[in-house]
Amino acid sequence: MSRDYVVGRIEDIPDKGSVAVRAGRQTIAVFRDGESFYAIHDNCPHKGGHMCQGEFEPQNALVRCPIHLWGWSLRTGELETDTRQMIRTYPVKVVDGQVVLSA
Ligand code: FES
Repeated sequence: MSRDYVVGRIEDIPDKGSVAVRAGRQTIAVFRDGESFYAIHDNCPHKGGHMCQGEFEPQNALVRCPIHLWGWSLRTGELETDTRQMIRTYPVKVVDGQVVLSA
């Protein structure tokens, strides 16, 4: 069962950037593109690269893992070259200027 976590205010997350946040026992990478937010598990399913340190491509809603540069969709969690491989994504919403994710 998931629960909501307030992970900061909008301005705490740099535009076109990302931060790693804690949600319970999990570390989640939160990305911001203007008013759009995305959240994925911080550890790459391949070899554990920290996705919050990856190369964010806002125009494609995609992040490239910092270790081997595999591209993961921030919308669906799919690997761009093999959609059978997934990284976990989490719903994000903004409530009264606060960024809230469900994990
Ligand atoms: S560890 Fe992420 S692509 Fe290899």
